[in-house]
Order: sequence, then structure tokens, then C-alpha cells
Amino acid sequence: MKDLAPRREELDPIEIASRDEIEALQLERLKWSLAHAYENVPFYRASFDAAGVHPSDLKTLADLAKFPFTQKTDLRDNYPFGLFAVPREEIIRLHASSGTTGKPTVVGYTRRDIDTWAEVVARSMRASGTRPGDIVHIAYGYGLFTGGLGAHYGAERLGCTVVPVSGGMTPRQVMLIRDFRPTTIMVTPSYMLNILDEFRREGLDPRDTSLEVGIFGAEPWTNAMRREVEEAFDMHAVDIYGLSEIIGPGVANECVETKDGLHIWEDHFYPEIIDPATGEVLPDGELGELVFTTLTKEGMPMIRYRTRDLTRLLPGTARSMRRMEKITGRSDDMIILRGVNVFPTQIEEILLATEGLAPHFQIELYRAGRMDAMRVHCECLPGATAAEARDAAARRLAKAIKDTVGISVEVAVADPGGVERSQGKARRVVDNRPKE
Ligand code: DLL
Repeated sequence: MKDLAPRREELDPIEIASRDEIEALQLERLKWSLAHAYENVPFYRASFDAAGVHPSDLKTLADLAKFPFTQKTDLRDNYPFGLFAVPREEIIRLHASSGTTGKPTVVGYTRRDIDTWAEVVARSMRASGTRPGDIVHIAYGYGLFTGGLGAHYGAERLGCTVVPVSGGMTPRQVMLIRDFRPTTIMVTPSYMLNILDEFRREGLDPRDTSLEVGIFGAEPWTNAMRREVEEAFDMHAVDIYGLSEIIGPGVANECVETKDGLHIWEDHFYPEIIDPATGEVLPDGELGELVFTTLTKEGMPMIRYRTRDLTRLLPGTARSMRRMEKITGRSDDMIILRGVNVFPTQIEEILLATEGLAPHFQIELYRAGRMDAMRVHCECLPGATAAEARDAAARRLAKAIKDTVGISVEVAVADPGGVERSQGKARRVVDNRPKE
């Protein structure tokens, strides 16, 4: 794989500024953001008043802990435009994420917000090893989802040639990669695996493509998956993180030279880690729920937004800005099986280390008598479809899960292509337990 690390002169000066400079900028911007939210959004005025705090109470960054949290339900309760902090006419773009139930959550951007977003995605891409002039294949979905358009504006800002493919039509994705010769691909890691399968189905060697960098995010994925994809395509696989409520992709990104967690673009997004049960702020290094406050967003400022994502904050390495560890999972995705906590990423890691099985999987929860039970649906490799090979692979996976996680699971090994595929975020858990 090529050395794609950007030169220091190419970085935004703030990326490598001193911690003092970064914190001074954060404090100044945080004061602005709290006042902007309080003065222009009735919801924030009411919630600050109820908590007995005023924006002027913030004298240091640590004072942020006095302010109340914002949650996904607050977006739903103020549907569709109730959290906007500017007149609706100044909002030039809406995005929305489809909730599993009921109304979607809506986010709005001013022209300057769209500009900031392009800037942080361009910065993320540069950190990933993409350079001006590169051809960028974007297979994140375009539309209300922030992935496609977020990546698109960032790639244009960096000065790339953008191929706005969106998700789906996998054979066409393969054709365009072969014909247009992109060096960067931006896509969910699970959909990248489908593209990989299609290369193999057509008898093509994925290592022969022009691809040098994959910028993967929108769902949890493991270092085991990184090794799998890097090996298969002979390219760098780098993690991009973000969420619609905060801006979309480009809140944090790994650096291609270190791949040691994601640097948070702290000049725009202020991170905290809290104990999800008590709401108490935890020191850097401890695992907990990630909370973000936007520092520059005009259209829809977010104050102490609880992401539900579980990670820890670590000091900067390739940049001065702090890192977040690769996400273990969302608290909503944590499975509690007979008292043991399990994340789909743990199953992914074990599956990828198990011989004879493809990297696709889905977890089914069901009821066996009075007990909850888990079945891991996975696939055999095209060369290992015989019954004995499958049974052996199933036994290996079940044993490895028992040994590492401590739970007994059933393993169902389907034919190649037998596990549900997604064109965007994979659905890792299907809960078939009867509703209480
Ligand atoms: O998924 C934004 C995005 C698009 C990020 C493209 C990266 C690439 P939402 O649909 O609002 O926004 O979903 C946000 O997805 O809270 C995490 O749970 C999860 N997520 C996003 N990136 C990662 C990642 C987009 N790199 C939710 N690793 C977040 C793990 C991720 N989970």
C-alpha cells in the first residue's frame, strides 16, 4: 500500500495547533453556541431555565457539565423545524434520518453550515490519504441520508473528481470502478463487502483495481474487518464517523498514517464522555457514551447531544485533536443475553477470525422455552460448501464465541449470498423474541 500521509503544510493549522490554542478557540466558540441556542430556540431556553443555568455561567470548558443534555426524543418532540435557531428561509438544506418507529428526525443547515460541513469532510478525506485531483467514487446513499451529499460536497471542496454513484446496483458499481479508475471509494463497510463479492463473482481480482483508499463509516466495523478489506483490495481502509444531528459524516476521522482511532474535529464539535447511567462526565480514557456540542453550527445548534455511541477519548497522535476509539457499538444495539452484554462488533471480530466463513453476518434473537437465545447467521465461502466443511465451521464459530464472550449460541451457515445484504447500513440484529 502506498504512503499517502499528507504533508504537514497541507493541514489546516488548527489540526496541529497547541492544546492551549485549541481550547481557547473552543471556549470562545462554546460561549457563542450556548448563547445562540438559548436566545433563538425556545426548547433550549426552557431546558436551561429548568436546570437553572444561563449561557453566562460558562466560564471554562468544564462548566459545560452544568448544562442539560439533548436527546433524540427532543428532536422528535420538536418535529419538524422546532429546533432551528434561524428563520426557516435561512435554512438551505434539510436532511432526515428515518427512525425505526414513527417520524424521522429532521436537521437543517444554513449556507455557512453547509460550508463548514464541506470543510470537515474535505479535512477527513485528506486525513484518509485522498488528494486534490483524485477520482472519488461515492457509494453512500444520496438523499435524506447525510452520507452521499456530505461526502460529495467534501470531495468537491478538496478538489476531487466526484463520481456520485449512490448505493445499489452492485454490478454497475464494479463496472464504474474498473472504467473510471477512482483512487478513493466512500461507502459503508458492509456494502464494500458486497462490492468485493461482485468482483469475485465476475472472476476479477480486486487487488488489480485503481483503489488506494476506502473511507468507511455510518456503521460500526472492526479492525478485523479493516484487515480483511485492506488485504482483499490492497488499499487503505480508514474510519469516518458522524451523525446527522451533529452535521453528518466528518465529525471525526482516522489518519491514514496511524489508523489508531478517529481524530475529532474539535474546533467544530466538542466531545464529552459520560456514564450513560448517571450522566456524570468521565475523564479521558474511560469508556462511556459520547456526547457532542456543536461549536459553530448556526441552523440547528446541538447542546450536549447524547449520541448513544460507546467509546473513549484518547490524546491526539497524528494531529493535536483528541481521538475517539473505534466505536464498540451503540447502547441501543447492546444485546443482553442471559445476563451477558454482547455487541455485534464482538461477533464480527470472532467471525472474521474463523476459517471457512465469509464476513457477512446477522444476529437473530429468539425465545427458546423461557430463555432468550441467539442464532448467528453467516455464510460459507464459495469453495467450502460441503456439509462437513460447514458443520465444522459452525462448530468453530460457536466455540470461539463461547470461549471469548461466554455465551452459547447457535450458528446457521447459509450458502454464499444467503445472509441479508444491505446497500447502506447493515441490519446486524433481528429480534424475533415475542413482545412482552
Ligand atoms: O451515518 C453519517 C455518516 C455517513 C457517517 C457516512 C459516516 C459515513 P446517521 O444516519 O445519523 O448518520 O447515523 C449516525 O451511525 O450515531 C453511529 O451509531 C453510527 N456511525 C456513524 N459512523 C460510524 C462509524 C451517519 N464510523 C450513527 N463507526 C452514529 C461506528 C458509526 N458507527
